[in-house]
Amino acid sequence: METLVFKTDPKRPSQRTIDAAAEAILNGRLVVFPTETVYGIGADAFNEKACRNIYKVKGRASDNPLIVHVYSVEDTMKLGSFSREHAKALSRIWPGPLTVIVKGKGILPETVTAGLDSVAIRCPKGRVIRSIIKKAGVPIAAPSANISTKPSSTKGEHAIGYFRGKVAMIIDGGEADYGIESTILDLRSFRILRPGAFTPEQIERAFGRKPVLGRLAEGTASAKRVISPGTKYRHYAPSTPLFVYTGDRRAVYSLVRPFGRSAAFIGSEESCNMFKGTGVRCISLGPSKSLRIRVHRLFDKLIELDSVGVKFGVVEQFDGKGLGYAAMNRLRKASSHKSFSTSEELKKLIDNI
Ligand code: TXA
Ligand code: MG
Repeated sequence: METLVFKTDPKRPSQRTIDAAAEAILNGRLVVFPTETVYGIGADAFNEKACRNIYKVKGRASDNPLIVHVYSVEDTMKLGSFSREHAKALSRIWPGPLTVIVKGKGILPETVTAGLDSVAIRCPKGRVIRSIIKKAGVPIAAPSANISTKPSSTKGEHAIGYFRGKVAMIIDGGEADYGIESTILDLRSFRILRPGAFTPEQIERAFGRKPVLGRLAEGTASAKRVISPGTKYRHYAPSTPLFVYTGDRRAVYSLVRPFGRSAAFIGSEESCNMFKGTGVRCISLGPSKSLRIRVHRLFDKLIELDSVGVKFGVVEQFDGKGLGYAAMNRLRKASSHKSFSTSEELKKLIDNI
């Protein structure tokens, strides 16, 4: 399939690009676009066949439902049931990087909801996706734009790498603002199913209530059924074996240095600097003082890990506050829960590659 690639300024997308995308969506085609979180691969949420195609192109299991993207809080009310207080809080938060799960009104195709009686809805802030929804006049079902199990696209080039030749159109709007997916909050239980760009602290402020966190949100447990995102399936994983270092920041140097060129280290600029001249491939996420930048670059650097030709990668853990909470969830999954803090533990992980 020929894929049209449009480059655009994500803050001021060109009308020609938006018109072409809306037309493709209304014609039942798939379009890849930037949002403020990560890139999405979208279709008309009411077009069953087009939505089925999303699963096919992504290699996604059919019991893993899609997020429906809407233009306004009012549009949300048509798709699901909300209490008055929740609607009020959402009108303060949206547009923004929070997805909510509510009881559905049964008007979306089963392909979108995977047959559940609930629906995931988000009103995104990114100008490109907002303009497409507005122009097309339909809600857009869109999972993250990545091949299943791979890290999400946070740049146009990632999306092009995954989907050129497989979708009608890709809009390259450079880097997504957050670089991590939206937070998924089940409004029925007030539980975070997937931490993301909207932090637990922000949820508490907006709703006046602490969200329920737990092992699913941490990424330390997985679900048998798809009650929550990414909890059943392998996720965000580079092909190169990846291990999370959970010990004292400075001590990682002596553990990883002996592996020289066969290892890569992903971490803050300051931690990376320790490895200068050791042969260990350093992939810097940015200054340790800027959590937002380090989280923003995480998926990009996980994708980069596969291009540097090492036997394994070590990634420094994040402090679990704010955006760091979501980043740790992704790292636990990306590493298939493989972590170490001593050289014996690292040796065992390497022996099992
Ligand atoms: O930032 C984001 O959320 C991006 C952009 C494109 O909006 N989208 C995204 O979609 O990350 P996706 O499909 O990669 O992750 C959404 C997750 C899926 O893992 C799915 O299991 C979950 O949402 N989900 C969808 N509907 C659900 C439901 N009714 N109940 C529980 N989980 C649901
Ligand atoms: Mg995804």
